[in-house]
Amino acid sequence: MQLYLKSTILLSMFYCASGRDTKVILVSMDGFRNDYLGKTKTPYLDNLISSGVTMKYMNNSFVTNTFPCHYTMATGLYPETHGIVGNGMYDPEFASYFTMSTTEPRWWEGGEPIWITAIKHGLKAGVCSWPGSDVSIYGQQANKWISYSQPMPPRGRVDKVMAWMSEDNFDLGVLHFDEPDLAGHHFGPEDPKLIQVIEEMDSIIGYLIHKIESAGLMDKVNLIVTSDHGMTSIDLENKLVDLSLYVNRSLLEAVVDQESTFNLLPHKGREDDVVAALSKVEHIHVMLRRDIPERFHLKHNRRALSVFAYADEGWTMTMNTTQTAELANTGFKGNHGYDNELISMKPIFIASGPAFKVNVTVDPIQSVDIYPLICHLLHIESEPNNGSLERVNSMLKNHSRDGFTPLVTLTPIFIILLLSHLIW
Ligand SMILES: *[C@@H]1O[C@H](CO)[C@@H](O)[C@H](O)[C@H]1NC(C)=O
Ligand SMILES: *[C@@H]1O[C@H](CO)[C@@H](O)[C@H](O)[C@H]1NC(C)=O
Ligand SMILES: *[C@@H]1O[C@H](CO)[C@@H](O)[C@H](O)[C@H]1NC(C)=O
Ligand SMILES: *[C@@H]1O[C@H](CO)[C@@H](O)[C@H](O)[C@H]1NC(C)=O
Ligand SMILES: *[C@@H]1O[C@H](CO)[C@@H](O)[C@H](O)[C@H]1NC(C)=O
Repeated sequence: MQLYLKSTILLSMFYCASGRDTKVILVSMDGFRNDYLGKTKTPYLDNLISSGVTMKYMNNSFVTNTFPCHYTMATGLYPETHGIVGNGMYDPEFASYFTMSTTEPRWWEGGEPIWITAIKHGLKAGVCSWPGSDVSIYGQQANKWISYSQPMPPRGRVDKVMAWMSEDNFDLGVLHFDEPDLAGHHFGPEDPKLIQVIEEMDSIIGYLIHKIESAGLMDKVNLIVTSDHGMTSIDLENKLVDLSLYVNRSLLEAVVDQESTFNLLPHKGREDDVVAALSKVEHIHVMLRRDIPERFHLKHNRRALSVFAYADEGWTMTMNTTQTAELANTGFKGNHGYDNELISMKPIFIASGPAFKVNVTVDPIQSVDIYPLICHLLHIESEPNNGSLERVNSMLKNHSRDGFTPLVTLTPIFIILLLSHLIW
């Protein structure tokens, strides 16, 4: 009997120490701007807020595009460190271009995403449709994953992740939805047609919560619902800057066009000429890489090319007006990628679950804080990162002043078990 008890206790100690008492699901709804909840009725997200924590907005990283922002959330690193500095990139050392379907590991190994950190600590993790989900990072991948580029309806994604969390008993699920970003680009963020898509995303979060409930996981799952960036209205006819009017393409070895930002690689020695030619153009900001503001956390990476340009909010740059006209014809009324200090570029943040306080609004955090927050929730050690547990402390029920809750204080039962074990 005593032996039985003792081994049960040892097992439960292991259970506590290995973090199996808690699960985390991280959800990103692409392009969900901080004020979208105010546009219509969102009962499920509203409930999530009153059962947990939220903030006016989350501060994200620059450039405010899908790949850099998602990889920042996943790694806790700024783009200049994790290396995914854009949705499109040119790497002068590789002498090659990156697109949103590039899965070659060498582009991604500037950082370690949370799902790899989790499996390195013996936890089980699945990642669905997140940028980088299908990449082998130093030879490792999540236990189960679905590629960013594999089409899959949103409820199908929820079913997948919830099967991982319940049947496979995974500790971490990471999930990305494409909307409301696509609708935001197509209609523009102020169009009434966007409202339907916001309502649809609300009901998908409702579906996820229903699945968590019916799996009996409500007291285990810490759910974080956030986004990568916001959205603003653009005007491809009247707010367009044609860079080719000022710079001859033959001066440039490489061009990375992201509409609201451009990376240019002039031939050696021509950098100053290119900056000079563009510096008087209105509505854009052009600079040598070394002059990129520190606050963008972009300049200390070779994929930020030697000349960088970013546009004022709502303005679009092009080097090919034919291409832009084609884009305009498909309907393209909203965009992002602009300065991350603009309120329109900032995403939402909501978190709810056993670790989070109930019905409180806290100060904004930064998207680099999500990685150390999840490590903390899963009781695993984080890799070096740019986030801060101090900034997330105010949303947690049991926080200690140094921002780290030692394992033994996690649960009083743990202490009792430990004591009784010592007495034997
Ligand atoms: C660009 O440079 C090339 C080569 O020097 C020249 O042939 C061409 O006319 C220039 N284009 C413009 C628009 O100035
Ligand atoms: C500009 O875009 C059009 C349409 O996409 C393409 O056919 C053309 O080759 C492009 N021009 C240059 C100079 O890249
Ligand atoms: C968030 O951004 C706002 C404005 O862009 C800034 O005033 C605030 O200090 C930032 N907070 C954090 C935690 O980065
Ligand atoms: C949440 O807090 C607000 C005030 O901050 C209060 O009016 C509301 O009733 C609370 N909701 C719940 C569900 O506790
Ligand atoms: C971000 O964190 C990485 C890893 O610790 C570090 O190398 C880098 O200097 C940090 N960046 C900033 C701006 O502190």
